[in-house]
Amino acid sequence: MLIAPSILNANNLDLKKDIKEATAAGITRFHIDIMDGHFVPNLSFGPQMVSDFKREFPTTEAEIHLMSDKPDVLVPAFVKAGADLVEIHYEAMSEEKVNHWLDYLIANNVKAGLVLNPDTPVSVLNKFVSKLDQVLLMTVYPGFGGQKFIADSPKRIKKTRQLLTKAGKDIPIEVDGGVNGQTAMLAKDAGADVFVAGSYIFKNGNITEQVKKLTEILR
Ligand code: DX5
Ligand code: ZN
Repeated sequence: MLIAPSILNANNLDLKKDIKEATAAGITRFHIDIMDGHFVPNLSFGPQMVSDFKREFPTTEAEIHLMSDKPDVLVPAFVKAGADLVEIHYEAMSEEKVNHWLDYLIANNVKAGLVLNPDTPVSVLNKFVSKLDQVLLMTVYPGFGGQKFIADSPKRIKKTRQLLTKAGKDIPIEVDGGVNGQTAMLAKDAGADVFVAGSYIFKNGNITEQVKKLTEILR
């Protein structure tokens, strides 16, 4: 089990301090939400955030959740910035482009992830499964932190696990959106391995305490 805190809802003017605190509490990967104001109705970070992150925290993984329909510009930019893992959205581009950018990530030794929105049938994964290092199932509609975990999600996680097992691919399933102590357990029981948590970690008072609590719950 891995917890990947999303820094979206951390205090953007205090990021270094917050990342340090979470790292000291045992976090080894951060989830960096990239929003382009077009594929999703919000704006967040750019490549410089990632290069600064990797300079300050070289041994901590930067996982890029790319919520953009401009992969041609942005995938190379985030690879260049030092991303350890890049997750592209199935809904954001043609299947040909999905294949192209997964191949690009593999060729550049960056872990490749595919993200599915809550309404996208998980069966689409069959077309790309051989190229994936991780699957990200959205458990909210992307765009904002602090939303409610969609109740139907555990069913989708189970289906995805079955599909991966059938394909002989033992890769992590990550969940993103509305993850807290209760929903993390539901997702874990359904077969999830990686848990993105934004507000739960950064908007509940004490970061160290929140990381410890979630770590304990997922043990
Ligand atoms: C939503 C983002 C999430 C978000 C999670 O579009 O992809 O990563 O920051 O935030 P919480 O944990 O608050 O739902
Ligand atoms: Zn995300």
